[in-house]
Amino acid sequence: MCGIVGYIGENNANDVLLTGLKKLEYRGYDSCGIATIYNDKFQIHKTTNRIDSLVSCIQDTEKSNIGLGHTRWATHGGVCEKNAHPHTDNKDKFVVVHNGIIENYIELKELLKDKGYEFYSDTDTEVIPNLIDLNYDGNLLEATKKTVDMLEGSYALGIMKKDNPNEIIATRKNSPLVIGVGENENFIASDYSAILKYTNKIGILENDEFAVLKKDEVSFYDKDLNKKDVAIKNIDTKDFDVEKNGYEHFMLKEINENSITAKKTLDTYLINGKLKFDINLSDEEIKNIKHIHIVACGTAMHAGLNGKYIIEKFTRIPVNVEVASEFRYKNPILDKDDFVIFISQSGETADTIACLQLVKDRNIKHMSMVNVKESTIDRMSDNVIYTKAGAEIAVASTKAYIAQVILIDLFGIYLAQKRGLYDDEELNNILRSLIEIPNKIQEVLEEDKEYIDYANKISNKRDVFYLGRGLDYYVALEGSLKLKEISYIHSEATQFGELKHGPIALIEDDTPAIVMATSKNLLDKTISNIKEIKARGANVLVLTTLKDFPSNVADKIILLPEVNENLSPLLTMIPLQLIAYHVTVNKGLDVDKPRNLAKSVTVE
Ligand code: AGP
Repeated sequence: MCGIVGYIGENNANDVLLTGLKKLEYRGYDSCGIATIYNDKFQIHKTTNRIDSLVSCIQDTEKSNIGLGHTRWATHGGVCEKNAHPHTDNKDKFVVVHNGIIENYIELKELLKDKGYEFYSDTDTEVIPNLIDLNYDGNLLEATKKTVDMLEGSYALGIMKKDNPNEIIATRKNSPLVIGVGENENFIASDYSAILKYTNKIGILENDEFAVLKKDEVSFYDKDLNKKDVAIKNIDTKDFDVEKNGYEHFMLKEINENSITAKKTLDTYLINGKLKFDINLSDEEIKNIKHIHIVACGTAMHAGLNGKYIIEKFTRIPVNVEVASEFRYKNPILDKDDFVIFISQSGETADTIACLQLVKDRNIKHMSMVNVKESTIDRMSDNVIYTKAGAEIAVASTKAYIAQVILIDLFGIYLAQKRGLYDDEELNNILRSLIEIPNKIQEVLEEDKEYIDYANKISNKRDVFYLGRGLDYYVALEGSLKLKEISYIHSEATQFGELKHGPIALIEDDTPAIVMATSKNLLDKTISNIKEIKARGANVLVLTTLKDFPSNVADKIILLPEVNENLSPLLTMIPLQLIAYHVTVNKGLDVDKPRNLAKSVTVE
């Protein structure tokens, strides 16, 4: 997704903007640019190379104390310099950076063309500075208000006027933007990781609100331009470590943080063996829940599948797991005794936010699980519990998945305890097993050589299969996503029992198949499935927690620590994350910023 950084203060704006844009690189981008003001002139530089190349571009610019920076993840218009932000109006009076999609830009472009404006880019964004020019009658804030009232879609905007180097205007709608408050300097950013180096005092801009940043003050306005107070919060920076700390890639660092992430998440909600969730959901309401919907995207949705397993098994409440981009358009069936759980690492995923709004509009009880405090989903939700994964920078989610699975498992057990359907002893057994998970994850992490060896075997393959039943299938889905999203090797996950209904036709000599086998009850079935694909030439790796798994059925078996079967994804997922990582490194690809992807999909 696009990234925005803005600065007004006493320091060199270029330094702050470049530093901030570097922190936003993880969001994914394909071009970038910076605009500053000097002597009532714009100094604008853009490139389709990486941010580091901007450094040389701006060496000859005059030092300025005000500027806007942008990383673009192309939506409308190809990857080229003319489409990179910032964008100016025809008269070069206003400059804008934008994150989001203007859905009515074509008609706005026609309206502007009829008034003599011309366009030089293929972007939707370019209508904005020209509309500001059209609407400008001496007050930039009012011109901005008139402009955004004409926009349909989503936007986070930073705006400057060439002959007014004393203010930046910011506004947003369904696209994230935060305001940083410093000493004689102020900031805007798509997320606060970009400016934490300078300030941890953050003001949250809500949809349709405006902020006017001057060097020594920030004023906030509501949608009707009435001045309003906005609480400035101190962000807890200890969780926000956005450095690699010696690892070659953020992804490897974050995989190795799985253990501490698991411990932090457990310690937050499991205290002296007792579960405690600070949510507004009475025991009576829990007893009356008739149906649970878990709504998320990508990895978060895969984590949600584990919730389905645990909650259905121990509460007998039917759970359906929905992809947010489907749920929002299917006119979902929701009753007053339903309960909806949203899962989102970033808290900014557009489809998930839209589903949350739909559920809120229908006044259905809900709760969100997010990793980023003060994110949009955090602020919109009636109830929120947090994964304690800290900043996850790599586009491919790893430690956040582990934290999400732990959190949804804990919450499932919490519901079961409240519903009283399951004897506490078994539930307490699971809780005791959960406490051992961080150490077991660490044990698995220390076997990395096994995964490097296996990754070396499959790095040049064209297709890889991930196979399992029940929870093992849910892990297969996530393991398959990890491989394809960073190594670009096609992979697919199939319920092992489903293979013979079609996909087995794809198995041929030396096809790599990674099998998860953690269920004693399904062991025989899994072994016979393995034999089916072995008979057709597959090369089979088995990840198992069952110490008596027969040694003669697969090409390679990696025995993982024994664990309560309900918690097996927390261990089997670790090798899959590392295998995907090492394959990608073998292929010399950009592990942390895979092509076409963004860390937070803030547009539809
Ligand atoms: C997973 O590796 C991807 N980064 C992606 O599938 C991600 O999980 C999905 O976009 C949901 O993001 P969220 O958790 O921030 O809502």
